[in-house]
Amino acid sequence: MRAIVFEEFGGPEVLKAVDVTAPEPGPGEITIAVAYAGVNFADIKARADGYRVDALPFRPGLEVSGRIRAVGADVTGFTPGQEVAAFLSGGGYAETVLAPAAAVFAIPDGLSLRTGATLPSVLPTAYALLHEVARLREGDTVLVQGAAGGVGTVAGQLARMGGASAVYGVVSSFDKAEHALKSGYDQVFLADTFDRDVRRVTGGRGVDIALDPVGGETFQRTLAVLGRFGRLVSFGNTGSDAPWQIGPDDTYPLGASVAGFSLLTMAAADPQRLRELAEKAFGAVTEGGVELPVSAEFELADAASAHRLVESRTSTGKLLLRI
Ligand SMILES: NC(=O)c1ccc[n+]([C@@H]2O[C@H](COP(=O)([O-])OP(=O)(O)OC[C@H]3O[C@@H](n4cnc5c(N)ncnc54)[C@H](OP(=O)(O)O)[C@@H]3O)[C@@H](O)[C@H]2O)c1
Repeated sequence: MRAIVFEEFGGPEVLKAVDVTAPEPGPGEITIAVAYAGVNFADIKARADGYRVDALPFRPGLEVSGRIRAVGADVTGFTPGQEVAAFLSGGGYAETVLAPAAAVFAIPDGLSLRTGATLPSVLPTAYALLHEVARLREGDTVLVQGAAGGVGTVAGQLARMGGASAVYGVVSSFDKAEHALKSGYDQVFLADTFDRDVRRVTGGRGVDIALDPVGGETFQRTLAVLGRFGRLVSFGNTGSDAPWQIGPDDTYPLGASVAGFSLLTMAAADPQRLRELAEKAFGAVTEGGVELPVSAEFELADAASAHRLVESRTSTGKLLLRI
């Protein structure tokens, strides 16, 4: 079967299509003939910086949709041919993937395989950030960095659905602002001025909840626009800055909280919790009308072009590889 690998860290050109042996499922595992693979920023971090790469060569790809090829001996509740989506620790850019049964989900009724591939990573992430970590309450004001990207597009809609009184987004360009305004955001600010803008629109009070996938200076400026008892959740480091540090001066005056979250770590340590979270989050799509538009689709062998598009800072919504 064909799969994408990289044997060294570097630019998109290090992604190569190779022929490898198709996997067979062991106990507790399922193989899936992949229809679509989702592209996540973590794949780009893996390729460029070795994020969560144990050894080379490495096969990127954290989420797929497709049809079950075979189920392992002790797997129940799944049958060959069934349409599923799966969250993986890697290897999703391939014609066939091996997934732990615990991280395989039936595609909800009425959804296509194409939409299915957009669900496993960003939906549970955005849901956990807002509801589990930040504990969104009716009437809260919410600020989301990277509002036009995969997680950001869903986070705006989930915040609105969860009862937020105002949802603000931050993006790097006017084009991205237009996309975010269609995804649940009341107002969208540019990265250069967002702190001034937030103070202006909140009458100086700041926000109750802020979600930050960027880190570095953006994290510090986001912390500075929290209101009383505000909660800031860090969930990425797109800016590749040194890890943030905070002290009592950052939290005592307003009773602020700073938290973090990693879906990959939770999936590895607590697959049952991933399943519960995914079921609630997928329900937001099937019952709540949350949408994650696919902005571009590429052939598997052209995965490098998908990475280039994300790194150009012009992508919005979700990017997929078509297998
Ligand atoms: N902790 C978790 O469990 C978890 C799970 C999923 C994703 N994430 C994180 O959430 C973030 C979004 O992930 P995603 O897969 O949905 O990606 P994405 O948002 O579709 O694309 C990356 C986003 O990062 C922003 N960005 C900032 N600096 C960038 C840079 N130097 N190069 C490219 N983009 C840059 C871009 O927005 P602007 O151009 O508007 O700044 C862009 O929207 C990433 O940081 C990812 O690692 C975390």
